[in-house]
Amino acid sequence: MIPALRTLVVIPTFNELGSLPGTLARLRAAVPLADVLVADDASPDGTGDLADELAAADPAVHVLHRRGKEGLGPAYLAGFAWGIERGYEVLVEMDADASHRPEQLPAILEAVRRGANLAIGSRWVRGGAVHDWPVRRLLLSRGANIYVRCALGLPVRDATAGFRAYRAELLKSLLDQDVASQGYCFQVDMTRRSAAQGAVIVEVPIDFDERVEGVSKMSSSIVSEALVSVTRWGVERRAQQLLGLLDYRGRRRPAGRDAR
Ligand code: GDD
Ligand code: MN
Repeated sequence: MIPALRTLVVIPTFNELGSLPGTLARLRAAVPLADVLVADDASPDGTGDLADELAAADPAVHVLHRRGKEGLGPAYLAGFAWGIERGYEVLVEMDADASHRPEQLPAILEAVRRGANLAIGSRWVRGGAVHDWPVRRLLLSRGANIYVRCALGLPVRDATAGFRAYRAELLKSLLDQDVASQGYCFQVDMTRRSAAQGAVIVEVPIDFDERVEGVSKMSSSIVSEALVSVTRWGVERRAQQLLGLLDYRGRRRPAGRDAR
């Protein structure tokens, strides 16, 4: 028997009082060997206090209190750093609102065990699905992913997905870079950086359920940050390709031919 990889599930929270207990209970039942870190941005509704209570009752649950709402990206980065310092080998991202089914985490972890550096729970591969999303959210997610694929050429169908597992080694090298994305484009940023490192990225189909409690934190500023960032990354990528191409045509190609 290969011992299970030490796994930490990081759950970012902002006003998730109604969702967190149920999600945690399902997660602990579905993946009992994984520890959990709730990364709370000082939620005004008291989610942080509730998380403390849940942590007091379960030694596998931990809480990271952040000083205020700084966005999804910084909360994850702080949670990952916390886990890496403590020697976790696999770090998982999961939403607090039960949109990600904890029961589907084992399949994602299995992909990591089989060699993926990054396993993404994907809504937009065969077998994946979104349940009960309003049409405008479906269009936003589909549109965003199509734009990301065109602009960045990523080999991933669901680059904005927030249910994923990273090998610690990959995350360590990403944390050394300056990942500044705040909102949900953090997910795209981490995906493109992983791909640029040559990471093995595997998509595992998941079901995404619309939340029942509380409200989404998706906002127009999160959408515009994503649009601006993805466009900038796309232009940077094209520029690099172009430079590479000119190099290749102007210098390297004749040199390559001579060498043969
Ligand atoms: N700590 C912290 N700080 N947590 C946050 C913040 C923040 O600023 N903003 C959102 N969260 C937490 C929420 O509390 C929830 O647990 C999770 O991040 C996802 O937020 P939602 O607001 O529920 O996201 P969504 O359902 O609209 O968006 C889903 O789709 C996005 C696009 O595909 C999520 O799966 C995202 O992860 C995904 O990027
Ligand atoms: Mn949600």
